[in-house]
Amino acid sequence: MIGRLNHIAIAVPDLAAAAAQYAGMLGAEVGPPQDEPEHGVTVVFVSLPNTKVELLYPLGPDSPIARFLEKSPSGGIHHVCYEVDDIHDARDRLVTQGARILGDGAPRIGAHGKPVLFLHPKDFNGCLIELEQV
Ligand code: CO
Repeated sequence: MIGRLNHIAIAVPDLAAAAAQYAGMLGAEVGPPQDEPEHGVTVVFVSLPNTKVELLYPLGPDSPIARFLEKSPSGGIHHVCYEVDDIHDARDRLVTQGARILGDGAPRIGAHGKPVLFLHPKDFNGCLIELEQV
């Protein structure tokens, strides 16, 4: 059901430093910071030949990334995103098998303008999974 790895998201305590590290030390193609107020993040996209990395930094007081960084002050992998062809079909198949969807279960528009939803990390080996319809 899941397809390509769309991106890996990493929460970072210093966005400028992380972006400079990926561009400089790691020699990656790094974009400018973009505010995503609906998701409570500022994101820098790192383009790799086969996928993307998103460097996430808190935006606003209710940011989920702020809570993550409280627990992991040096940062860490926040979620992985897998592509699906039909997000409603994927959700229904997962719910039928007992997986929990975060929030009200309805897909919302993600950082790339496509429908996304998140699966409960306790159901997936401690890993927060984002599904994105491409
Ligand atoms: Co994501």
